Amino acid sequence: MSPGTTSLEPTSIPLASTVPTSCLLDVYRKAEETERTAGVDVVKLHVGDPYFDPPGEVAEAVHAAVRRGDTKYTSVEGIAPLRERLVEKLASENNLDAAVDRVFVSPGSAQGLTALLRAIVEPGAEILLPELHWPVHLQQSLFAGFRPVFYPLGPGFRPDPEAILAAATPRTRVLLLNSPANPTGVVLDRAAQTALLDLAHRQGWQIISDEAYEHYVYEGEHFSIASLERGLPDDERLVHSTYSFSKSAAMTGYRLGYVVTANARTAAALRVVQEAGIIAPSTPVQYAGIAALDARDAIAANAALVARNRAESLPALCEAGLLTELPAGGWYALLDVTVTGLDAETFAARLLDTHGVAVVPAAGFAMRPTLAPSGHVASVDFAPWARSLVRIAFCGDPKQLRLGLDRILEFVRQCEAG
Ligand SMILES: Cc1ncc(COP(=O)(O)O)c(C=O)c1O
Repeated sequence: MSPGTTSLEPTSIPLASTVPTSCLLDVYRKAEETERTAGVDVVKLHVGDPYFDPPGEVAEAVHAAVRRGDTKYTSVEGIAPLRERLVEKLASENNLDAAVDRVFVSPGSAQGLTALLRAIVEPGAEILLPELHWPVHLQQSLFAGFRPVFYPLGPGFRPDPEAILAAATPRTRVLLLNSPANPTGVVLDRAAQTALLDLAHRQGWQIISDEAYEHYVYEGEHFSIASLERGLPDDERLVHSTYSFSKSAAMTGYRLGYVVTANARTAAALRVVQEAGIIAPSTPVQYAGIAALDARDAIAANAALVARNRAESLPALCEAGLLTELPAGGWYALLDVTVTGLDAETFAARLLDTHGVAVVPAAGFAMRPTLAPSGHVASVDFAPWARSLVRIAFCGDPKQLRLGLDRILEFVRQCEAG
């Protein structure tokens, strides 16, 4: 169902068919169609796929695993050598004291999040999502059976504990955090996350901390909220964390991520969900993961490449008044196109048609579905203020990025000139 208001007869319709498609998929299709029909190369600022490749050791490790015959099923949680290396990485980089039996390898963190949500959902439970969110978080929540509730973001798109508490209800069970955030680029420091964890402990909520962009922080440092639960007894922990190899090691197509569950209860449930969903993660790809963890220099070099893109290309957007501040982390910037007099949907469509640049209108990151009592999505609305925002990705080839941004600036000038 595309965004808009749709009424339906819930009983005869599969739940999944009422879950809104992601705006990312829509733009992806439109960009491809433009390339096919107009025969032009579209500058793709809509996708979060980096221009650099995984470290060379990663491909070597896959080849070696296949040649050795390491191509059989593994345990449902993933191979011990990878999980043990992940425990070390989590201790040294994230300050987590995760036990190895709390760590689950997943085919991408997207699948890890999907499985985790299924493992913790209760009938009628609500999940708190930021009002500007990665649309896949919304889809995953709906598929798991959560009822999403959206918490408003304060100045600079930062979560505010009081506003979160005001949005919560007695049915709230989970608070989802994403730092560095997609699409806002917000990075939450220790103080902000301490306040959010205190709130969750007081309210008895669980937290899901999506840290896919942990290595892309340009201001301040990445902070993992689960580190605040170091040393707590298992049954008092409530933070589940998810991580990805896609961004850090540019392994988007390998599909490799991992989940760190807060406690034994969730780990036991996730084991069943993983078994039913995937049996086990891909075996050769898990060996690739070990190689990637050993390639720390490559991961730091990747972060430096995106940081350079940000420093060299994004200030022009600030000068043009499209961006108030550079994103503190992640791969994305949200541009306010109010000066053009166009809403973001029209802006993105015309920009693609006339200048061959694909960007994502942010309404798709601000969807607010209304659910029928059956759990079907009865209608989809947007936060109205998102109508003036578009998202660009700045993890791409620097020349393409500059070309795309030059064209955006030219298009904005044309709109301003009327
Ligand atoms: C916030 C966020 N979390 C998770 C992911 C998924 O990454 P993966 O490739 O590990 O499934 C993405 C991908 O864009 C993302 O933006």
